[in-house]
Amino acid sequence: MKKTIRDVDWAGKRAVMRCDFNVPLDGDVITDDIRIKAALPSIEYLLENGASIVLMSHLGRPKGEPKPEFSLAPVAKRLSELLGKEVKFVPSDDVVDDNVKAAAAELKAGEAMLIENVRFKAGETKNDPDFAKDLASLGDIFVMDAFGSAHRAHSSTAGIADYIPAVSGFLIEKELKFLGEAVNDPQRPFAAVMGGAKVKDKIPVITNLLDKVDILIVGGGMVYTFFKSQGYSIGKSLLDEEGLELAGDIMKLAAEKGVKFMLPVDVVCADEFSNDSPYATYDVDEIPDDKMGLDIGAETIKLFTDALKTAKTVVWNGPMGVFEMDNFAVGTKAIAECLAEIDATTVIGGGDSAAAVAKFGLADKMTHISTGGGASLEFLEGKELPGIAVLDDK
Ligand code: 3PG
Repeated sequence: MKKTIRDVDWAGKRAVMRCDFNVPLDGDVITDDIRIKAALPSIEYLLENGASIVLMSHLGRPKGEPKPEFSLAPVAKRLSELLGKEVKFVPSDDVVDDNVKAAAAELKAGEAMLIENVRFKAGETKNDPDFAKDLASLGDIFVMDAFGSAHRAHSSTAGIADYIPAVSGFLIEKELKFLGEAVNDPQRPFAAVMGGAKVKDKIPVITNLLDKVDILIVGGGMVYTFFKSQGYSIGKSLLDEEGLELAGDIMKLAAEKGVKFMLPVDVVCADEFSNDSPYATYDVDEIPDDKMGLDIGAETIKLFTDALKTAKTVVWNGPMGVFEMDNFAVGTKAIAECLAEIDATTVIGGGDSAAAVAKFGLADKMTHISTGGGASLEFLEGKELPGIAVLDDK
């Protein structure tokens, strides 16, 4: 078990806290502040328990250079609004300099400040020890609460723990509880719903889950590679050439392990990759040469949702179709609605499936929605996340 912020007496201590404030921006307007809200419980707990906090995060991929469009200034503003108290933003092109160090040293109990995007410094993504030491010099204890970045071994997520004690925040604790219990101690039947475009990208997670699940449902862009591997023609649908052989291997493995492996039986196809394109539903062995599959069909929706209604635990990662286009969002929406209704633990991997659940207004009907895209995927692959491995044990 890893130590959490509950295991520390915070009176008079300064936390250096890594959050994942990698939020979508339109200019300097934050279009989705869910990741900022997700950090509030830990921040509030620390401030109420006598700590001061130096907050840090990355935003986007500025590639080791200060770029104004990736500044964390809008995050400091939004965070101050949400907390109801000022979070001072102390920017520096060097991220940490004497001015930043002085501001950190001046913080009083109950006060918080935010430093500039750690990826403005090239050392960050290289896990440079000097940069990690600079970050560590800003406080007494490292608090890791950036679940979305925990799969990165960077100075601010991992290296810093070489210099000061390291504990997790509540968000990481919560993510590990829900993702961990779903995968390692699920109530059965346990179903996984996998979507997304590339078979190759999903192989590690599917392989890991095949050892654990009772039902594996596959939808989304990768199904056409499965159909092709079965000898069907797939028209203009997406094909992951590299994944062709792997698709066949997965189906064999599922059969060996006695997992109920479910692929679509019908798909919605269009002439073009456009919401304005005419579309119709075809059985999977009748996809016309001039059409592309963009969603699962009505018969498949019934098959998949009937199977999900028998499950007690469901993990979902990846949409069933091009849910960003209304005409091809039906399958993804039907799965989201089914998960919202069933009496089961429902865990949504981050990224696209989280965005889909939010789009359909069903977020509060799920047991847990992960704030990590890549991080939740790597967790589901069974990998140890570097940002968690470095935390102190109890
Ligand atoms: C994410 O959005 O998944 C995390 O913030 C990680 O971002 P990264 O892929 O740029 O490391």
